[in-house]
Amino acid sequence: MNPGHRPRVFVTHSMAGLARMVDRDPLAPLHERTECVVWPGPLQPEPRALREAATDCEGLLCLLTDRVDGDVIGAARSLRVISSCSVGVDHIDVAAATARGIRVGFTPGVLTETTADLAFALLLAASRRIVEADGAVRSGAWTPDRRWQLDGFLGRDLHASTLGLVGLGPIAQAVASRAHGFGMRILGWSRSPHRLPGVEQVELDALLAGSDFVSVHVALAEETHGLIDADAFARIRPGAVLVNTSRGGIVDELALVAALRSGRVAAAGLDVFATEPLPADSPLLGLDNVVLTPHIGSASTATRLRMADLAVENLLAGVLGRPLRDCANDAELAAR
Ligand code: GLV
Repeated sequence: MNPGHRPRVFVTHSMAGLARMVDRDPLAPLHERTECVVWPGPLQPEPRALREAATDCEGLLCLLTDRVDGDVIGAARSLRVISSCSVGVDHIDVAAATARGIRVGFTPGVLTETTADLAFALLLAASRRIVEADGAVRSGAWTPDRRWQLDGFLGRDLHASTLGLVGLGPIAQAVASRAHGFGMRILGWSRSPHRLPGVEQVELDALLAGSDFVSVHVALAEETHGLIDADAFARIRPGAVLVNTSRGGIVDELALVAALRSGRVAAAGLDVFATEPLPADSPLLGLDNVVLTPHIGSASTATRLRMADLAVENLLAGVLGRPLRDCANDAELAAR
């Protein structure tokens, strides 16, 4: 590459809010080394605008809410790297990128512990009815005649119960290390064999039947779409608590609603949904036994900054022809 060449890159989000919070612009290295165009809107570009903006760029930096589909990739004839500020890449047509020799950067590792913290927060909030109880205090329902009720807000113990981890990747392992501290027995399911201390690897059916708590940690792909469906809820231990911090499409939401209504599933904690934002008519909104958060698994200031820095690093590496620190399609590209 000509040493004076400044590759053209397009960034779908200004990261201005994060920059203000940390008093540093994570995009600064791009402004120094590239012709960097940043989408000016407060929201990211609509699909057509994204397609047009990406047409002549060599690098694209996106968030998980940008749909980088075959159309975008097909229109971007000079594209060499797509760098997503996320660990999940299900919003990118990775096969189309691979077919064109485009590398796909992502941000694993840096968000593992923060996401595990949220999974644990949801396990506790759902099992101990924290949101319901908070609502009772705020609404004035905690009155002198109901000062302390022997049978008020009874939940389920997390300690000394059994946790089932669906998926055994880094985030699941970080959840397991927290669960060990709570004295939990841990079952785990994964397609590939894992030897993890203190985790018994079992078939999915055995995990569902044997766990008081089930936490989902698989990536969304064709094989995992709808993995926890009506059939799975028919086999889940009665009264189990389900938590999902992975991707909404892995759990069949209508089947979950039915299981929450019937009591088959006692409670759920959900950070991810089939459609985001959660539609106003979602039946989940009418249920007291579910805690809902708006996809905030990695949302600590330090972690979001690490993700932004890594996404910038991956993008720069891609447009400057260097290896990416984290490339989601390395193996596929090598096998071409
Ligand atoms: C969050 O869901 C991510 O993929 O980073």
